[in-house]
Amino acid sequence: MALPADFTFSDPFNPTPNPALISDEARIQFWGDQARARLTWGVPFTEENTHSFKKPVSLGLDADGVEQFTIPKIKWFEGGKLNVAYNCVDRHVEAGRGNKTALLFEGEPGDREAISYAELQKRVAKATHGLEKLGVAKGDRVVIYLPVIPETIIFTLACARIGAIHSLVFGGFSAEALRFRVEDTGAKVLITTDGQNRRGSVVPVKVNADDACTGENKIEHIIVVDRTAGTAEARASVPWAQDRDVWYHELIANVPDTHEAPLHDAEDPLFIIYTSGTTGKPKGLVHTMGGYLTQTAYTHALLYDLLPDVEGEDGTRRPDELSTVNDPAKVESAVHWCTADLAWVTAHTYEIYGPLVNGVTEVIYEGTPNTPTFERHFEILERYKVTNYYTAPTLIRSLMGAFPQGPQAGKFDFSSIKLLGSVGESINPEAWHWLYTHIGGNNASFIDTWWQSETGSTVCSPRPHDPQFAPAGTYPDGAPRTSLKPGCATRAVPGISTRVVDEKGDPVETGTQGFIVVDKIGPSMARTVWGNPQRYLDSYWKHYGERGWFLAGDGAKQDAEGDTYILGRIDDVINISGHRLSTIEIESALITHETVIEAGVCPIEDELTGHQAVAFVTLSKAGNTLSTQELKTVLSEHIRHEIGPIAKPKDVVAVADIPKTRSGKITRRLLSQLYEGKALGDRSSLQNEEALDAIARVIAAH
Ligand code: PRX
Repeated sequence: MALPADFTFSDPFNPTPNPALISDEARIQFWGDQARARLTWGVPFTEENTHSFKKPVSLGLDADGVEQFTIPKIKWFEGGKLNVAYNCVDRHVEAGRGNKTALLFEGEPGDREAISYAELQKRVAKATHGLEKLGVAKGDRVVIYLPVIPETIIFTLACARIGAIHSLVFGGFSAEALRFRVEDTGAKVLITTDGQNRRGSVVPVKVNADDACTGENKIEHIIVVDRTAGTAEARASVPWAQDRDVWYHELIANVPDTHEAPLHDAEDPLFIIYTSGTTGKPKGLVHTMGGYLTQTAYTHALLYDLLPDVEGEDGTRRPDELSTVNDPAKVESAVHWCTADLAWVTAHTYEIYGPLVNGVTEVIYEGTPNTPTFERHFEILERYKVTNYYTAPTLIRSLMGAFPQGPQAGKFDFSSIKLLGSVGESINPEAWHWLYTHIGGNNASFIDTWWQSETGSTVCSPRPHDPQFAPAGTYPDGAPRTSLKPGCATRAVPGISTRVVDEKGDPVETGTQGFIVVDKIGPSMARTVWGNPQRYLDSYWKHYGERGWFLAGDGAKQDAEGDTYILGRIDDVINISGHRLSTIEIESALITHETVIEAGVCPIEDELTGHQAVAFVTLSKAGNTLSTQELKTVLSEHIRHEIGPIAKPKDVVAVADIPKTRSGKITRRLLSQLYEGKALGDRSSLQNEEALDAIARVIAAH
């Protein structure tokens, strides 16, 4: 099909596109072509895209006198019907690739299993029958609280097959965090394990699931996967509710291993993913089937070098960004490893759906990187001849801390590695260079993918390059090899565009910090916040409502070549080890403790995790009786219980008063500056400026 004349954004030899050149027509046609070619549709779609949101229209005042606005309605591929699980598994088997390895699983204790696409198809079919036996139907919610094991992927696909909406919860989250997700989704079924392998020991998990289900909820059944018990005797000691709980192996003992995949609408919800926002409790972002899978399939192919190459006149090769098909030889040879826990959005897209929809082989590893030693990742990279290693800066920094000069010379063979990837936070140049040199052997591509739970898949990233043809820094034609700018997310992928703008939406000057917005979205954008569409409007669309831009919540700047650097959150979100936590959520949890009256939580920089939380608290009578150390211990334990270990504050500082603006907003920025001993920023809007001196004195004596 002929492309519109202005289709310049995906010219692989013009790597820094001008977003203004992307017409809506070209963009929508591009995604339509990708959706048609990359996915198998039971019924073709009739309309590529409708997006109701040009600007919010006032609906007048509500009963409380608050002005209400229209909420955006985004739809992609309407009229189309498909089955996501069929696209990720069955069609590869039908195409004669059933023997191809889908999953290379390695458990923390060292157990290993290779699962082919044909075997995966059978296991998904059985799990689907199992869920159906328990009454799970289209539209029901299923919460999956499992570690990184094949069953997690199998159940995720089984839900997708039925059209039940899955919500994966990180196994390291507390029972309270799980309870919130069970209640907020209104889930009918919860899936968990008896126990988990964690840092060399077995940690009970089922008890957390039981705790999470003690309140008001709609859970009818808990399915338990036997991960650590192993024998009937050991299973008998797992806490059990007779009519509610069911062992996975018993559930699927007599079900068929084939299942007819029903068709679902492109806009039917696929999953809910919870993420921290600026206010209170996490929000459940809703992703839909057709749009999410299209952009996931395309960006996985683009970024992990599955697209066919085009060759420039000088012999330089780059991926053909327009391609709607993959290069079969590249698909055959790829061994993908995304190290994220399956519950994070990173893993939904580039560990569950992306690699499987593209039919590649991937590694999944259950454990922590330092069990039994920090060499575990090196062993896995070598053992499975991993070609793509996608991980997070915090993990790279831990490896760098353990092996400053890299792994022992000659001990590991990393020659299979072709591509390194980073996600979750900006990568610092030291960590970038360490990975590039010691794991990448100085000639791998390096992608730094910037995206969010909201966007569903990558928005900005360098593209893979062809090291063979390019001297460091530039291609022979002088174009920058943007893959080699440490810490730079470079530019939007084709079909999307971003801008870095000021408060009013005007472009900022080169090198100046502004706000990154997605001015033209792709099909994997979240459609709403579960049960709270107003929050969807308020969080993302209201700020630049006049222009219809999505506010991402990150600061950013651009260099002279137009490439984008992400500078971190501009809102009340803390990024700890690449995980998003809301300062307000931690504060809300702190004030439920009897020792605390008021709390202000702020981020402070940390060499390993990027940031850590520090809590400033004013104390109740009960709190005043405790020593500094006791206070830190009880409040850390409380946060671990309420949210999870990741949110535990690095320090707790008891103060007399917390600085606030005249409108009562806690000035967390000033708390960070005080704690880090930096010059204080603007104080003009404070209602209690005297609190600052008092806090400075407490910190000096702390
Ligand atoms: O602040 C950005 C940071 O992580 C946030 C999104 O977090 P979450 O929704 O949990 O998704 C994480 C995985 C996609 C962003 O707003 N972030 C993510 N990737 C990068 C990043 N910051 C800088 N560079 C990145 N590559």
